[in-house]
Amino acid sequence: MKQTYQELITKAVNTQQLTYEEITMLLGAGDAQQMLVRAADEVRRKAVGDDVHLRGLIEFSNRCRQNCCYCGLRRDNRGLERYYLKEDDVIDLAQEAVRCGYRTVVLQSGEDAYFTADRMAYIIRKIKENDVAVTLSIGEKSREEYRTYREAGANRYLLRIETTNEKLYAKMHPGQELANRKRCLYDLKELGYEVGTGSLIGLPTQTDEMIAKDILFFKELGADMIGLGPFIPHDDTPLRAEAGGDFDKSLRVLALVRLLLPYTNIPATTAMETLRPKEGRRLALGAGANVVMLNVTSRDRRGLYQLYPGKPRAKDEPMEDRLRLEEEIRAMGRTIGMTQGVSKAWQQEINE
Ligand code: 5AD
Ligand code: SF4
Repeated sequence: MKQTYQELITKAVNTQQLTYEEITMLLGAGDAQQMLVRAADEVRRKAVGDDVHLRGLIEFSNRCRQNCCYCGLRRDNRGLERYYLKEDDVIDLAQEAVRCGYRTVVLQSGEDAYFTADRMAYIIRKIKENDVAVTLSIGEKSREEYRTYREAGANRYLLRIETTNEKLYAKMHPGQELANRKRCLYDLKELGYEVGTGSLIGLPTQTDEMIAKDILFFKELGADMIGLGPFIPHDDTPLRAEAGGDFDKSLRVLALVRLLLPYTNIPATTAMETLRPKEGRRLALGAGANVVMLNVTSRDRRGLYQLYPGKPRAKDEPMEDRLRLEEEIRAMGRTIGMTQGVSKAWQQEINE
């Protein structure tokens, strides 16, 4: 059996292709994990190098019109104090992040109607007066809105598909359609963004087969960034009593994604760190990840951006996190990216 796993991994390394059945098999193979992680780390080093790119994350509004069943910011969660930052406060925070040395700022929020395309364009334009890449993570919008942000200077967009399984998608996202999520991702691609997507691992009733199809979808889309993390049940959501996602499974998904999409940017996500507070980030960086997003939202607001419980470092000041992470990166023999950390997958596409 071991031989078979090794053969599959070698095939993935050499061809960047595996069938749906082969991916499923490796996802289910706890005893292949070590081999998989080692191969992914090697592929990561050869394809994207030792740099870990740091992103400054600004959570500028926790108001959301959507009702995703897993998420603490969902519309029906009345127990949450809602906040949003005014345009100029978002800009000030971004400028502070730039001063702290971040070469990318990520603007993330729920789907908040206050932030019209015009307001977003104003924010993006102002931030782009600095030498910095701007990533948006603000949900499903129309093609026209995406175009407006792009023309204002936005470089990247994160929108996880969460799951490519129609039935599970519908169950998890009342009032939303998988087809529209895909439409968004293809619009973003066509508009020239570096496009990030990804999945939740361990959603109720999700199978390895479904995750295998997610990975094939990332390839088909030509994702430039892929964020993956275990589902963590939140008490103020309908999924409060469900089992959460598994750390090791999430790590295998990450490693497989690195093997099959060698040039993509992959963050060590906060959800991975939440399940293994001391080592989650290090393990993810050692299994193919090459990006970390650090929260630069001020301490008093951060606690309110609760997608799921137990988010680490909720009470730390931004600079403390950053110094600790840099230490961790150096201790692993890795380096801190000094560039904007553009996705190599994207660079290759535009040069084609
Ligand atoms: N557990 C883990 N990840 C979550 N997200 C939202 N809710 C949860 C949860 N309960 C993730 C989603 C979303 C991203 C911003 O946060 O995948 O795309
Ligand atoms: Fe809103 Fe995003 Fe949470 Fe869904 S996952 S409820 S869109 S913040």
